[in-house]
Amino acid sequence: MFKFTTALVAVLPFLRLAAGQAQEWGQCGGIGWTGPTTCVAGTVCTESNAYYSQCLPGSAPPPPPPTSTVSQPSGPSSTGTAPTGLSSIPASTLHQITNFGTNPNNIGMYVYKPAKVASNPALIVASHYCSGTAQAYYSGSKYAQLSETYGYVVLFPNSPHSGTCWDVSSDETLTHNGGSDSLGIVSAVRYAISNWGVDASRVFAVGTSSGAMMTSVLAGAYPDVFKAGIVDSGVAFGCFALPGQPEDSWNSQCAEGQLILTGAQWAAKVTAAYPGYTGAYPKMQVWHGTADTTLYPQNFFEEVKQWTTIFNYPSTPLSNITESYLPNTYHNATFGPNFQAILAQGVGHTVPLFEQQYLQFFGLA
Ligand SMILES: *[C@@H]1O[C@H](CO)[C@@H](O)[C@H](O)[C@H]1NC(C)=O
Ligand SMILES: *[C@@H]1O[C@H](CO)[C@@H](O)[C@H](O)[C@H]1NC(C)=O
Repeated sequence: MFKFTTALVAVLPFLRLAAGQAQEWGQCGGIGWTGPTTCVAGTVCTESNAYYSQCLPGSAPPPPPPTSTVSQPSGPSSTGTAPTGLSSIPASTLHQITNFGTNPNNIGMYVYKPAKVASNPALIVASHYCSGTAQAYYSGSKYAQLSETYGYVVLFPNSPHSGTCWDVSSDETLTHNGGSDSLGIVSAVRYAISNWGVDASRVFAVGTSSGAMMTSVLAGAYPDVFKAGIVDSGVAFGCFALPGQPEDSWNSQCAEGQLILTGAQWAAKVTAAYPGYTGAYPKMQVWHGTADTTLYPQNFFEEVKQWTTIFNYPSTPLSNITESYLPNTYHNATFGPNFQAILAQGVGHTVPLFEQQYLQFFGLA
């Protein structure tokens, strides 16, 4: 109650300044927010957390979290009795798994196994946006559908936080084996490698918005686990860092593109996440819209500085071209084989998915 009142008092002085209506996916409230507090028609201002409310499509509250299609087998104890092989996972349906290892925040974990699994299959971790769920990202993307063609396995993690954003701000989540959401996700990956015959050299991460930020976190803190990542409308690794504040806090400075660092400073955040690591970093593709008012487009250029420094690439692209399969307002900037940055002129939050292209980047299609 005290917390609530404090938040209200903090917000009230700013309400008077609000003008106009926020666009779809735009911010419409939160502590310190001075912009519009109402949303355009067809969208509803939905609180993610005390710091952030967003105009989400539709007029209904967000859907309830997905329910498991098969209940957890009842065993004599909670340790070591879950079925292990991939054959124990029902095919072509979203299926919840539990007991997959260290999971400090008790994130939900869902797997999609196609009818025909490739031998030593690749694995894709697909992380949802704020207010999303594993179920929503599963049905709103083609990752599961395309696995039926290409034979990989998909993990859809489900955020446990009240606003269902991912924790991309705590020290724990930003540190290799440090805890929080990122470790929970990685535990499921390690479980899949140990028990399902997943090819450890073909584990990939994709995500949108908060899930894109989580993808950066996974790539930076677990470069030994992930081979490549697709960041759709996210931010640089460590940009959301708010040590000492509640997990999954919203970092307005970063979101609004006001955290401007040098490539060396950004790269230092990545290398500090896993000190002593000398292996390769996952190859990365980042996508962003120039009309993004949730995670401002400056974040795209901060990502470019970060990953070009990590890969020791020049800061200007080798090529920056339109692609026949993309709208002609999209520019694909290639800095080297391991890093491409696609800027979508006039596109807001978020850039639509191009799953088939991502699979090509991963070498799966
Ligand atoms: C690629 O070109 C577009 C169009 O000129 C430009 O807006 C964008 O900033 C360029 N991308 C990079 C990463 O330099
Ligand atoms: C970007 O261009 C590079 C170099 O031509 C190409 O290999 C890559 O597939 C392109 N990426 C996208 C997303 O189109």
